[in-house]
Amino acid sequence: MREIKVFVPGKIIIAGEHAVVYQKLALATSIGLGVKVRVTSSSKTEEIKNDEKGLIKAAVEIAGGIDKVSVFVESQLPIGSGLGSSAALAAAVIKGVKEFLGSTITDDELFQMTFEVEKIAHGNASGIDPATVIYRGLIAYRKGEPFERLKIKTPIKLLLINSGKPQESTKEMVELVGANPNKISIIDKVEKVVLLIKERLVAGESIQDQLDENGLLLEELGVVGEKAKQISSLLRAIGCGVKITGAGGVKSGSGMMIVVCPDYSKAKKLLDNRGIKYFETEIGEV
Ligand code: PMV
Repeated sequence: MREIKVFVPGKIIIAGEHAVVYQKLALATSIGLGVKVRVTSSSKTEEIKNDEKGLIKAAVEIAGGIDKVSVFVESQLPIGSGLGSSAALAAAVIKGVKEFLGSTITDDELFQMTFEVEKIAHGNASGIDPATVIYRGLIAYRKGEPFERLKIKTPIKLLLINSGKPQESTKEMVELVGANPNKISIIDKVEKVVLLIKERLVAGESIQDQLDENGLLLEELGVVGEKAKQISSLLRAIGCGVKITGAGGVKSGSGMMIVVCPDYSKAKKLLDNRGIKYFETEIGEV
């Protein structure tokens, strides 16, 4: 049987999430983990299992595949935890279905369609997730403008920690920020620190302190829960810079966190001792 296989990577937002919804600059990179999709023929689109938020169905529909294809998904990304699972899933399904039906799709067309589908999960979305997973690499993104591709001199090592799956959706977290009466002044501060991180990344300088500042501003915005705050304090006490990446969450987990440290062995020991899972990655690795 004819089949099409597509892989789309996940992403991390290095800095500027939430502020990016308000037309501020944000930095993001694609990562090695992602979503694999297999598309085969079918005379009827069967009910799709595990289709959280109806994203797969919406993606098959926008690609014109309803009652023509079967879609099988294998995701390496934790769902709704800030690694771009919704965008990667939607993009992979749309690309797979289009290719299966014999049409070519440009990255710009794929971005537009994925953005439409992703609004189901994000509501007032900025488009940074689909842009990063489709165009790949390290990008500076401002809503409604062409993105800028960044080149960095030296890859930057970091740890990714899972603080637990957020109970809230990205849409709910974006709404929560919308209701914060101090959001404008906090978001202005976020943009200043994002611009600095961009400069320092490109110049090959440490971004540890600036990432940490962005992390504290996200706490002020009200998107970081108790568990993530506790992990952050432990890591800050040994000199690391910490921030959540993505929409966050306050009721239980806050999704993935980025950690940059002067001494990674110390940080890993601390995390191992507390049974906190992490994995190592690099900005500029892709
Ligand atoms: O999907 P997440 O959890 O990575 O969040 C996306 C980033 C936000 O700024 C919170 C929302 C958006 O659309 O930009």
